[in-house]
Amino acid sequence: MKNVHLIKHPLAQARLATLRDKTTPHPEFRRALGQLGLHLLHEATAGLPTKQKRVRTPLGAAPTIVPTREILLVPILRAGQGLITLADQILPEARIGYLGIARNETTLQPEWYLEKLPPRLGRFEVFVVDPMLATAGSAIAAGKLLQKRGVKNLRFIHALAAPEGLRSLRRNFPEAPIYTAALDSHLNENGYIVPGLGDAGDRCFGC
Ligand code: PRP
Ligand code: URA
Repeated sequence: MKNVHLIKHPLAQARLATLRDKTTPHPEFRRALGQLGLHLLHEATAGLPTKQKRVRTPLGAAPTIVPTREILLVPILRAGQGLITLADQILPEARIGYLGIARNETTLQPEWYLEKLPPRLGRFEVFVVDPMLATAGSAIAAGKLLQKRGVKNLRFIHALAAPEGLRSLRRNFPEAPIYTAALDSHLNENGYIVPGLGDAGDRCFGC
C-alpha cells in the first residue's frame, strides 16, 4: 500500500516482542513502548523538510541542517502517551497536543473526552501517535479533527496495525504517511487485533 512504512529494524522488533509477550509486567511494557516509540519517531521524522543554517563553532563557521517547520506530536490518550514517553530525547523541540478518545467497547465507535491543541495548527508538521490501529475509528476521528483545525501535513504512527484499520485509514487519508512496526492478521469479534498485544492502555498503565 502506498506510503505505508513498515519499521523492520531489529531493535524495534525486539521491543515489539516484549510488548506482545503476555507475561511482560506493566513497568517493562511501559519502558518497551517508550523505546519502540523512539524507533518509530526516528523513521517518521526522516522526511521532514529541512533548511541549511550556518552556525559558529569555536573554530569557525559550519553548514548545518535543521527542520524548517515546527513539529507537533498528538498522542491519542491514553495509550498514545505511552509511545511518546521518551520522545523528548530525540525531539526536544516538539510541542505536544493531546486528544482524549476512548473506544466504546460495545459499538467500537470513538468517544471524545479531551482536546488540548495549540493555536494556528497549519504551521506544524503533525504526528498522530497511537500504538493500536484496530478499526482505525480513533485515528480517523483524530485526523479529521486536526484537518478541520487547519492541519495540512499529517502523519500517523502506530506500533501495530490490523489490515482492516490500515485500509480504512488509507481510504480516509490517501496521502498521509503511515508508520507501523507490524501488520497483523485480523480483528477479532471484539475489535481486538490478532495476535496483537492485548489492551495497550491497560497493559501500559497497569489498570
Ligand atoms: C485503544 C487504542 C486506540 C484504540 C484503537 O484505546 O489505544 O486508541 O483503542 O482502536 P480503533 O482503531 O478501533 O479505534 P482505548 O479506546 O482502549 O483507550 P485507552 O488507550 O485509554 O485504553
Ligand atoms: N485497542 C487495544 O488496546 N488493543 C487492540 O487490540 C485493539 C484496540
